[in-house]
Amino acid sequence: MGERNLTNQRATGFATRAIHHGYDPLDHQGALSPPLHLTSTFAFPSAAEGGRRFAGEAPGYIYGRIGNPTVALLETRLASLEGGEAALATASGMGAITSAIWSLLKPGDEILTDLTLYGCTFAFFRHGLAQFGITVRHADLTDLAAAEAGFGPRTRLVYFETPANPNMRLVDIAAIAELAHARGALVMVDNTYATPLLQRPLSLGADLVVHSATKYLGGHGDLLAGAAVGRQELIERMRLFGLKDMTGAVLSPFDAFLVLRGLKTLEVRMERHCRSALHLAQLLEAHPAVAAVHYPGLASAPQHDLARRQMPGGFGGMIAFELEGGFDAGLRFMDALELVTIAVSLGDAETLVQHPASMTHSPYSPEERAAHGISEGLIRLSVGLESVEDLEADIGQALDRALDMARAKPLRRAG
Ligand SMILES: Cc1ncc(COP(=O)(O)O)c(C=O)c1O
Repeated sequence: MGERNLTNQRATGFATRAIHHGYDPLDHQGALSPPLHLTSTFAFPSAAEGGRRFAGEAPGYIYGRIGNPTVALLETRLASLEGGEAALATASGMGAITSAIWSLLKPGDEILTDLTLYGCTFAFFRHGLAQFGITVRHADLTDLAAAEAGFGPRTRLVYFETPANPNMRLVDIAAIAELAHARGALVMVDNTYATPLLQRPLSLGADLVVHSATKYLGGHGDLLAGAAVGRQELIERMRLFGLKDMTGAVLSPFDAFLVLRGLKTLEVRMERHCRSALHLAQLLEAHPAVAAVHYPGLASAPQHDLARRQMPGGFGGMIAFELEGGFDAGLRFMDALELVTIAVSLGDAETLVQHPASMTHSPYSPEERAAHGISEGLIRLSVGLESVEDLEADIGQALDRALDMARAKPLRRAG
């Protein structure tokens, strides 16, 4: 039998690493599925050894807020998939974002960020950090001249999502990283929408990647989790300060186990999400009830060239669109759906639809939404794994009904 070597980072394929990396069943009594270490603390062989571990002079586990073998396996695997030196798993995506920011910035520092962010990230930046003397400056990072003008002498970090939640804007990671590094700033990218299968920001110059692993990485709508991936030195600062002392947003071993299970099918799930989303985006684009579709995979998308360059693995499972008739028509469309579920979150097997202005992006005021490119009528669709013909039929009938209602009673055009 050939020698097994499942723990190194040699050039195996993405799906192989998502299933095997960092774990050999033969080291664990043959257990195919990695053991779930449900423990809050770890016994030391001697008092002196406990002291050495605390002092960082000896390896070994100490306490569940600093590390756990099941969580560590997930971290090793995520680092491999994102192409980073190390990873930190957290209790949620917001746990990863806040643990990173508290580790990297201090009062007086500035963050430069794009116009569009997930609602709670926006709230943390706008209302949370401001109380602690960290300034957040928004600029249109899709426009390099505007991005360049957004830097100030105290800009320490550039932060963005690409594709952005909810309007699918893309930011050119390599170009922004070049601008940031020339000014001594770090670049942190929220890669939740794309996943490491479709886009690897670290390979394009980003310093840190963050995820809501609640979404595609977990993939089944049954957990909350987050992660950050990057250089060992940054990740260890986050682990031993941001996570341990500042947020305590520790991932439970059980949820780490579930994310590990989800990762095994990430590639096949994403392929299906991408295929179905492109199909539905084309259907939406052709329907008379639809005023605009935002999906970077459409040949007509304004950032399609960047999408092809930056997302070589595919364009993802998220679509945003606006109906003729705006907000009112959008609500009627959602209520007319029979298979698609009205719910926030994304990346699950089930197709989910929601209205950002009243739901995920309600932390923005209406004026802020208008200034940040989030229109009041926007509908967000997370395309799931159901048979695409069934999704097509359900979305088609709901669009037809939205159109019939609009014709029967002309609708106020909102946003
Ligand atoms: C792009 C993005 N980043 C971060 C988050 C926050 O993740 P979590 O809900 O796991 O805290 C979300 C949640 O919707 C998100 O969509």
